[in-house]
Amino acid sequence: MLFDVKPKEKVADLYGRKKELDSLSTSLGNGERLIIVYGLRRVGKTSLIRSFLGEREYPFVIIDIREIYFVSGSVPMGMLYSTIVKEFLRFAESMGKEPDIKLDGGLRITDLLKEMNRWCKGNGLVLVIALDEAQYLRFSGRVRYDGVIAWALDNLPNIAFILTGSEVGMLRDFLNQDDEEAPLFGRFKNEIYVDRFTADSGTAFLKQGFEEAGSMVSGKDIDDAISSLDGICAWLTYYGHFRTVEKMEHGKAVEQVFREGSGLVMKEIEAAISRSRRRYVLILSAIVEGMSTWGIIKAYVSSKAGAVSDTVFSSLLQSLVKLGIVEKTSDGRYVVTDPVTAEAIRRLKK
Ligand SMILES: Nc1ncnc2c1ncn2[C@@H]1O[C@H](COP(=O)(O)OP(=O)(O)OP(=O)(O)O)[C@@H](O)[C@H]1O
Ligand SMILES: [Mg+2]
Repeated sequence: MLFDVKPKEKVADLYGRKKELDSLSTSLGNGERLIIVYGLRRVGKTSLIRSFLGEREYPFVIIDIREIYFVSGSVPMGMLYSTIVKEFLRFAESMGKEPDIKLDGGLRITDLLKEMNRWCKGNGLVLVIALDEAQYLRFSGRVRYDGVIAWALDNLPNIAFILTGSEVGMLRDFLNQDDEEAPLFGRFKNEIYVDRFTADSGTAFLKQGFEEAGSMVSGKDIDDAISSLDGICAWLTYYGHFRTVEKMEHGKAVEQVFREGSGLVMKEIEAAISRSRRRYVLILSAIVEGMSTWGIIKAYVSSKAGAVSDTVFSSLLQSLVKLGIVEKTSDGRYVVTDPVTAEAIRRLKK
């Protein structure tokens, strides 16, 4: 069902994304072993990789790194290790194969990867390890997960990696794109960008979803939903869900998406800005009020919170961009394009 609010697990439930699915398929088919899936929040990255892997012959494990991070405050190797083992055993069993990997209890992730590589080789398979929200791997204490991945790429030909991240700049930092000394610097990677729906594809998505649910919805409602919610896949899915499952009329459904969605986004923003909350809130408020250049936003923040140095201000603004809350346009302006995120910012306690 297109309007199911959980991440999709089947290509049949995934609207569009043919290009991205083909790219994943071609990449792995050609023996490429490092794929990065970028995309702002709620555009359907998890749905894309789950649906893709759910239907191919590749054995796979999908690990939600953000979940581990939120549970533990970091990404401890033991936790990652046991999650991978659990997922791997589940997969091997679902294929009716004996998952005979030998582990000595040392809990070293490199030993685990080596064993899984050996097993895959013996079975003529390539294991895909998908690390969802991989930017959180940088909270790893002393372990260098980028080093582990680089080592695996060099030594374990039967293991491939798909990394996704909604905090695009943070994921780039983890990959250390600019540091020649970094383990993943200069590696060949296939980079896939998942974008929000255009007005046309969002409209087609809603039409198809309503048809599938057997609901009659006017073109006027659909146009209005698109102009209120933009092409963010999750908000359109919620809208469809509220209309078809909760039987709400148009206005109520849009209102409900703003209410629930902004509540969700507020929590994420609060978690991200807690260290310098007052200044972050001022920056965000300035941007949703329509101030969009570096100088004007900075002047606004200084007028409310006192002088702030260029460096500090730049780094705060840059963090918001790396987190994917604020976008920087090609002509250097700062904007929040997701209407639900803008609403969440308006609702933040000032
Ligand atoms: N192409 C699509 N077809 C149908 N539904 C989709 C599609 N893309 C996203 N969705 C729906 O949108 C919501 C968000 O999708 P998903 O969780 O996969 O996105 P994400 O990019 O991983 O988000 P997050 O940044 O929160 O991890 C879900 O309800 C999902 O079912
Ligand atoms: Mg996701």
